[in-house]
Parts: sequence; structure tokens; C-alpha cells
Amino acid sequence: MSLPERASEFQNPDIEVLIDEATLKRRIAELGAEITRDYAGKTPHLVCVLKGAVVFLAELIRHIDLPITLDFIAVSSYGDATKTSGEVRIVKDLDESLAGRDVLVVEDILDTGLTLNYLRNNFLSRGVKSLRIVTLLNKPSRRLVEVPIAYKGFDIPDAFVVGFGLDYAQRYRNLPFVAVLKNVSVEDPRSP
Ligand code: IMP
Repeated sequence: MSLPERASEFQNPDIEVLIDEATLKRRIAELGAEITRDYAGKTPHLVCVLKGAVVFLAELIRHIDLPITLDFIAVSSYGDATKTSGEVRIVKDLDESLAGRDVLVVEDILDTGLTLNYLRNNFLSRGVKSLRIVTLLNKPSRRLVEVPIAYKGFDIPDAFVVGFGLDYAQRYRNLPFVAVLKNVSVEDPRSP
């Protein structure tokens, strides 16, 4: 698939479009409609995992036709961009209490599952009324820990992807599509 005519970042030969903008937006609208139906009569509290999920969040909430509230958490996993160590540290905690709330965690990508597994257990211990996860992307082949996903945008192959919020060394978050970044070696999460 050819790249849209845009600035130099978009002309990077190492980038290959995996999911184009129209397809992303169509699927996210469906997810928003599903969430609207499932949470009818409730006020879901959306917790966005910074930074990658912000673009997905911004698109998703435009399709949730309910009162919602938002909060943000930032975590860092020890390790580099292509390998998660499994140890998760909260860099910026939530501003508000989760007690008694219908929490919907908004994540960009579920890879090994280690980050969301940690966050899920952490949030469950804060007295939520309910807890569900929505992820835009899912890499099932790399899962180390099973995490229940209520809403999922796309299953993708085991490749390193960027764009639509996802980064490589903090770059490419502004691409309006999801692309495979070629020539990045992704370590097997099971290797020691
Ligand atoms: P986990 O392996 O499921 O814990 O994923 C942890 C985090 O790694 C995700 O929230 C992303 O920030 C990042 N990540 C995993 N796979 C990719 C990828 O293909 N591109 C960019 N970031 C990724």
C-alpha cells in the first residue's frame, strides 16, 4: 500500500502501512458503538495508558455516546522498546480514585500482556466496580500472560509497529496509520 503524500517522516523507506487510516477509524467507530451499548445507563471511567494510547483514546471517545470520565496513567517497563522485561513501574499515577467506578482501560497494543496484567491487578485492588480492557491492537503470538480483553480492534502479526500513537524511541506517534517498522529486530519475549 502506498503512503499518503506527507512530510519526510512519512517517506521513511523502513515504514510499510499495515492498517490505513480509514480502516482504523471505521473499526474504532464500531468499538465505540459496542461500548455505548454495553455501558448504557452507566458512566464509564476511561483510563488511558500513556503515551501510546492517546491517539486511540481521542478517536474512540468521539464514538461513545454516553457521559464518560477520563484519567491517565503512565508506566514504564524496564527494558528497551523491543523487549519488555516484565517489571512495570508507575511513572505517573491516576489523579482520581477508582473506587466504585466502571473502569475501562484503554491501551494501544497488547503484546506479551505483562503491562496490562500488572495494571489490571493493580486496578482491581483499588475497589473498582467493574474493569474491562479495550486495546486497539493485539499480538496474540507474543503473549506470555493471558489477559482478558473485552474489546479489540485488530489482531496483528508479530512485527514491530509504529504510528497512531505507537512509537519507536518516541518517534512516529504522529503517523495517522499503523505501520510495520522494518529492520527492527524484536526479541523473542521468551528468551532469557
Ligand atoms: P506488553 O508486552 O503487552 O507488556 O506491551 C507493553 C508495551 O510495549 C505496549 O503498551 C507498547 O507501549 C509497547 N509495545 C509492544 N509492542 C509494540 C510495537 O509493536 N510497537 C510499539 N510499541 C510496542
